[in-house]
Amino acid sequence: MIGVLASGEGSNLQALIDAGLPIAAVASNRGDAGALARAEAAWIPNRVFDVDGYSDRAARDRELADWLQLRGVDFVVLAGYMHLLTPAFLDRFRDRIVNVHPSLLPQFPGARAIADALAAGVDTTGVTVHYVDEGLDTGAVIRQEPVTVEPRATLVERIHAVEHRLLPEVVRELCAH
Ligand code: GAR
Repeated sequence: MIGVLASGEGSNLQALIDAGLPIAAVASNRGDAGALARAEAAWIPNRVFDVDGYSDRAARDRELADWLQLRGVDFVVLAGYMHLLTPAFLDRFRDRIVNVHPSLLPQFPGARAIADALAAGVDTTGVTVHYVDEGLDTGAVIRQEPVTVEPRATLVERIHAVEHRLLPEVVRELCAH
């Protein structure tokens, strides 16, 4: 079963739901994440794990891992989850956590990848699905797809469209193994 972590609007979570993947739980670090409403609408158990409610991030991550494992989660997808995970979480799902990122990593890691690509003046950026480790968008790459920067007006939209196709595709393949 899949657990999804998301901090934002949740359009990638929606793509996973729409692909019919077996999602057992959705968690967020933010109470205002649109992803929680999407989980609710799909009858998927969901919960907020706000770091402010814990002594430190490791304590929060331990409780998050416990909650996911209790729901049968054995594979975790980060779909716009904007927090680094500590070893307290990573050790529980070693090599079973993937992330989607809006650039061709190792170019433009971090939370502002699309803006950073535009500022750098590159012709091509893209989407990466990769394994998650302790670093910021540093784990081994699983799949990448390029996206041309021009026309700029539709870049965000075109990147999202690639994410929404690529992420469910990769997750389906990995879960089949
Ligand atoms: C996505 O574009 C995802 O690639 C990005 O956040 C967005 C979340 O959108 N993730 C990162 O930048 C991770 N470093 P969503 O909430 O609509 O799925």
